[in-house]
Amino acid sequence: MDANARIIVALDCDSRAAAEGVVDRIGDGCRFYKVGLELLTAGGPEVVRGLVARGKEVFLDLKLFEIPTSVAGAVRAAGELGVSMVTVHGMGGTGIMSAAVDAARDYPGLRILALTVVTSMTDGDLADIGVGSPVDEQVLRLAGLAREAGCHGVIASPRDVAALRGTLGAGALVVTPGVTLPGESPAEHARPGTPRAAVDAGASHVVVGRAVTRAADPAAAFERVRDDLVRP
Ligand code: C5P
Repeated sequence: MDANARIIVALDCDSRAAAEGVVDRIGDGCRFYKVGLELLTAGGPEVVRGLVARGKEVFLDLKLFEIPTSVAGAVRAAGELGVSMVTVHGMGGTGIMSAAVDAARDYPGLRILALTVVTSMTDGDLADIGVGSPVDEQVLRLAGLAREAGCHGVIASPRDVAALRGTLGAGALVVTPGVTLPGESPAEHARPGTPRAAVDAGASHVVVGRAVTRAADPAAAFERVRDDLVRP
């Protein structure tokens, strides 16, 4: 896979116009965008249709955690929009994840990714919600459930990638947000890492947001991410 195909830019914008402005400024280098709940809610599905019409792949980060029927309906709606990836919460268990996988079968390009533990969470945060396992154990437990449910891959922090690749095998997608460029502040990520470190550890894709979208020159920032991946 070439480096550009591995980089997903998170369009965490509060309007369709703002998102399209960022896409314009990044230019042709970026082929894959993540649309999350903020942009979907503010800009509507037209944002996704617009990206697909421009030839971009879309990761629709719905973070589904609902009854299986509702999850399946949301996945079908995403498939109709032409997106490539949708997320479902592993904490919802195999019933929810299986419903998402089954609903995706009618859309050959659609991949279901399970969220394990959100990258900002710590062992203490898990204890607060009654999960006694530390983050690394919980990540592997949920990834195992995701594999059993037929998910195509997982979302995981850079630091969990190597262990996950071992658990999931070579074919699974491992998509890592929480990456920062070398020398940059890790924002609020509790478990950050560089794009290169994530890919070297076995990530199939990296998600980078503000380091690109809020840069003075988003196209140059995107190239820095790419350079980090391709340098010898
Ligand atoms: O921090 P950045 O702007 O690169 O975030 C890009 C994406 O990474 C966000 O859209 C969010 O889904 C994900 N993220 C995360 N955990 C955080 C911060 C961001 O999973 N603590």
